[in-house]
Amino acid sequence: MKHIEDIVIDNKMYLKLLHLLREKTGLNFEYYRRPFIEKRIKSRMIRVNSRTLNEYYDYLISKDGEVKKFVDGFTINYTFFFRDYDVFETFQDFFIDGLNINKGEIQSNIKPDHNKLAKFSSKANRARAMIKENGPSSRPSSSYVDIFIFLNQLSFYRKILNAKNKKNKIHIWSCPCATGEEPYSIAMILDNLEQQVKDFPQYKIVASDIAQEAINKAKRGVYSDDSMKEISDYFENKYFTRKSTHFGHENIINERIKDKIDFVVEDVTKGHDRPYRYDIIFCRYLLIYFNRQNRDRFLRIMENQLEENGILILGKTETLFNEFGSLRQVDSRNHIYIKSKNRLY
Ligand SMILES: C[S@@+](CC[C@H](N)C(=O)[O-])C[C@H]1O[C@@H](n2cnc3c(N)ncnc32)[C@H](O)[C@@H]1O
Repeated sequence: MKHIEDIVIDNKMYLKLLHLLREKTGLNFEYYRRPFIEKRIKSRMIRVNSRTLNEYYDYLISKDGEVKKFVDGFTINYTFFFRDYDVFETFQDFFIDGLNINKGEIQSNIKPDHNKLAKFSSKANRARAMIKENGPSSRPSSSYVDIFIFLNQLSFYRKILNAKNKKNKIHIWSCPCATGEEPYSIAMILDNLEQQVKDFPQYKIVASDIAQEAINKAKRGVYSDDSMKEISDYFENKYFTRKSTHFGHENIINERIKDKIDFVVEDVTKGHDRPYRYDIIFCRYLLIYFNRQNRDRFLRIMENQLEENGILILGKTETLFNEFGSLRQVDSRNHIYIKSKNRLY
């Protein structure tokens, strides 16, 4: 058998296979979109020369290590530092605006140096200046800057204002974190600000993923150049040591940044048990893999983990449209939602 499109997946056999995988791994594959799982099954079938799903089922039962191979390749750990850098610029702006400091006084550059995209920040700055002058009623027409109108409602805003009170810790969760590039990007931004701002609020970053190997790599904190393609020189020079190896280069993240993150292996569809709720959840590029029914179940878990007036940041290809439960869209460009009991407009 040569081509993926030649393979026919029998429904009964498909469900039987998912059941077997669930028994062997504890993972519920039924939560994921079927085309995504089917693609994985077919690619394994081709690799091990199984002509039918029945044959692959038998192979899976009898061959040591096949279940692990199936699962390892199933989770897509693709990620890089400052992926969608404008989302991270907005995240940094929450703190700069919340702390009421002049952006010009802060040394930072998130925008990758080679990137020639139109400047998002100049538009956002104009909108913010307009709000400052005329009050919140002057909501600008471009909805992607709406989040700044709600800044003073956000749960972490009052924690920023009361930074001296050490009980006011800002909780941030990166889920799924894959090999760690996303939570490390968050930690670098906060550490960089913390070094420059007096009375910076306390914060805690939790990062979780279902894939043990991804978390192991995150904890090692050693990255190839692929992970560095969107990082600015500013952050690269400040937080990485570059080393030559037999295979090219490796980029090693600073130990202080490593200490800022609690990495956890966890299947988020089974819940997430912490004695606090989060002010900010980065949940990017996971929703796309879930089927409709479980997407909603999963979103309820996320909603429940958020503080009232906390924010959820999704991937750029993921949307809840205007709202889901108490999650309401406040930034359509960066796919940011606020958990709010009240209607916003
Ligand atoms: C494409 S990565 C996203 C990484 C990062 N958030 C980003 O935006 O670059 C998707 C990750 O979802 C993880 N994943 C898949 N199912 C999961 C689950 N049930 N619980 C936790 N993580 C899961 C995969 O292991 C993979 O690392």
